[in-house]
Amino acid sequence: MNVALTIAGSDPTGGAGIQADLRTFADLNVHGTAVIASLTIQNTLGIQEVVKIPPDLLRKQITTLLDDITVQAVKTGMLLDGESIEIVGELLKKYHLAHYVLDPIVRSSTGYPILKKDDIELLKKALLPLALVVTPNLKEAEALTGLSVRTEKEMERAGMEIHAMGPRYVLVKGGHLEGDAALDLLVGDSETQRFRRARVRGRRLHGAGCVLSAAITAGLAAGLNVPQAVRKAKGFVHQAIRTSVSIGHGRQLLNLTSE
Ligand SMILES: Nc1ncnc2c1ncn2[C@@H]1O[C@H](COP(=O)(O)OP(=O)(O)OP(=O)(O)O)[C@@H](O)[C@H]1O
Ligand SMILES: [Mg+2]
Repeated sequence: MNVALTIAGSDPTGGAGIQADLRTFADLNVHGTAVIASLTIQNTLGIQEVVKIPPDLLRKQITTLLDDITVQAVKTGMLLDGESIEIVGELLKKYHLAHYVLDPIVRSSTGYPILKKDDIELLKKALLPLALVVTPNLKEAEALTGLSVRTEKEMERAGMEIHAMGPRYVLVKGGHLEGDAALDLLVGDSETQRFRRARVRGRRLHGAGCVLSAAITAGLAAGLNVPQAVRKAKGFVHQAIRTSVSIGHGRQLLNLTSE
């Protein structure tokens, strides 16, 4: 059995965070383990509050799990502050977790602020160099580089700047670009690869970024290389967006039920 780990926030709607990560792992035939780094109080209309898990509990959850279980790949999602970022960085190194997908969540899809400026600097220092893949959206690419990222050309430029900060691959997500295609750019050591799917219109989505990074992590856990894992994840997310569902009064959630 291939095993993946998510270290992220709890999302009671099931559309993002730990809950969506575990469902994505299951859909892709990988056993999911999960460490809760934060609790959110939210519904499909937005986040009311975020609550940090005390650092010693974050640490104990990870060490107790990894002293026992070997995981083939790990992702991190919502980490609330510098202290959590430092603990995660230290433990990724201690347990030699090389297949690491970093989803650098700076604010929620509904605009709730998560990381402050100092935290972003720490994330760049402590986590980016450890990542096999980092998956910024346009706003996160701007926050990491200080550049404007609104066009395909600017996505590639920002991707290259982030790549120079140490991760092996940068997937700059164009979900929030204008245009007919949902275009993501994968910047690696040599070339930039483009992953393009038709944009599904008329959706205001919650959790697309979480599902994408979880699907990439599942692919890596199953032995795919990064471009293969990204290609498969992109198809998986597209299908889940195409069939996305409204279960509340706000945003749509990706459809992660099988069939
Ligand atoms: N309307 C859409 N149609 C098709 N694909 C989309 C659409 N919106 C986003 N995507 C794809 O979904 C994935 C997530 O990208 P996005 O840029 O939305 O991430 P994000 O902003 O981090 O998401 P989240 O709001 O969940 O944090 C990418 O592969 C992107 O291309
Ligand atoms: Mg996101």
